[in-house]
Parts: sequence; C-alpha cells; structure tokens
Amino acid sequence: MKVLAIDGPSGSGKGTVCRQVAAALGWHLLDSGALYRLVAHGAALAGVASADVAGHAAVARAMNVRFAARADGEESILLSGLEVSGAIRTEAAGAAASRIAAWPEVRAALVERQRAFAEPPGLVADGRDMGSVIFPEAQLKIFLTASPEERARRRYKQLIGKGINANLAGLSLEIAERDRRDATREVAPLVATPDAITLDSTQLPLASVVDQVLSLARERFGRG
Ligand code: DC
Repeated sequence: MKVLAIDGPSGSGKGTVCRQVAAALGWHLLDSGALYRLVAHGAALAGVASADVAGHAAVARAMNVRFAARADGEESILLSGLEVSGAIRTEAAGAAASRIAAWPEVRAALVERQRAFAEPPGLVADGRDMGSVIFPEAQLKIFLTASPEERARRRYKQLIGKGINANLAGLSLEIAERDRRDATREVAPLVATPDAITLDSTQLPLASVVDQVLSLARERFGRG
C-alpha cells in the first residue's frame, strides 16, 4: 500500500498541506489528530472522568466516527452522527487531546482504526507518529515544522479569520506547552525518524510546501 506519512508539531501547516496533497493525488486522508480530539470530546460527552484512562480507551475503541466532505467543500466530522468539527477544533479541545494522547492505552486503542485508512490508491497520513509507529513502512515520510513564533502567528490568524477571539501571547504559551508534552511523552513522542525528510515552512508559503511535497511524492510513487 502507498503511504505518505506527514508528521510535525501543531501549527506547522500539516493539516492544510495534507488535505491539499491528498486531493491532488486523489488519495485518502487520515487526520489522526482529529481522532485524539474525538476521544477527548466523546469521553467528556459520555461523562467519563478526566483522569479515567480505561474509560477514555473504551471510548477510543467504540466511538462511531465518520469523516465526510460537506457540500461547501468544508470538512465534516460526525461523532455518532452528530456534527462535531467545530467543537473539536478549539484550542481547549487540542489541549485535551494532547493530554489523553500521552496515555499508552488510548494510543493502542487507536492503532488499528488508523491503519484501516490505508486503502488504494494510497493514503496521506497526518499526525505525530505516522512515520514512527502507525506506518513505519511508509515509502515517503515528511517531517513538517516551523518556528514556534510562526506557528503561533498562523494559529492566531486562523482563529481571528473564523471570528474567534484570540491572544497571540497566550497562543504562543499554549503551543509551547503542547510541543513540550507531545515531544516528551514516553509513548510515540513527536520525533523525526531518521528516514524522514524535514521541511521547514517558517519562511515558505504553504502553497510551495504543497508543491514540494507533491514533487517528492511523484518522484517516490510515480505519477499514477
Ligand atoms: O494535530 P492536532 O493538533 O489535531 O492533534 C491534537 C493532539 O493530538 C496533539 O496535540 C497530540 C495528539 N496527537 C498525537 O498524539 N498523535 C497523533 N498522531 C496525532 C495527534
């Protein structure tokens, strides 16, 4: 199976790059961060206590999730048939996801669900451990990064663009805290594997990152 793994910290532009690359190649897309966000959200809705690891793992195994494209082209994420894409995209939902993603039981409960996304003609997998743990056999691994300041600025612009109140200094602190937690946890920390190609998007518009990734993909996988 053809798998293109793209890992990196939050705000590196991964989400946008992965979506555009998957669309250009006509491949499936795995947004693994959304799965961790859904576990945290689903557990809160079900009244699972915030420190209940087994309860969160049970939600991860049982949750009924559907990713779909809405008529307006926006992404729709359904949890038990309910639209939750807005609810799981908040900063608070990201922080909650990062917290429960440090638990090995929760990660283990999501492994097979993630691997099931690998279907012909190919998969673009977006996350933190796509190349290291979930798809170690991926033929192309990219580690996409950007400076913390630039990532905070992008996130700020994104939130303001959506009409959500945001504070740049607060976002920088949150991003630094999330980086620290994602990179230092014991299981599947965010790392660039030795076989990954690192792309730094600090000075690059995302459109050129997309072009670079597409040319690497075409080199590695051929044109079709
Ligand atoms: O990519 P994102 O911001 O939607 O991810 C939310 C959190 O989920 C992130 O802070 C860490 C966790 N995560 C993870 O541990 N492993 C992944 N493959 C994807 C996300």
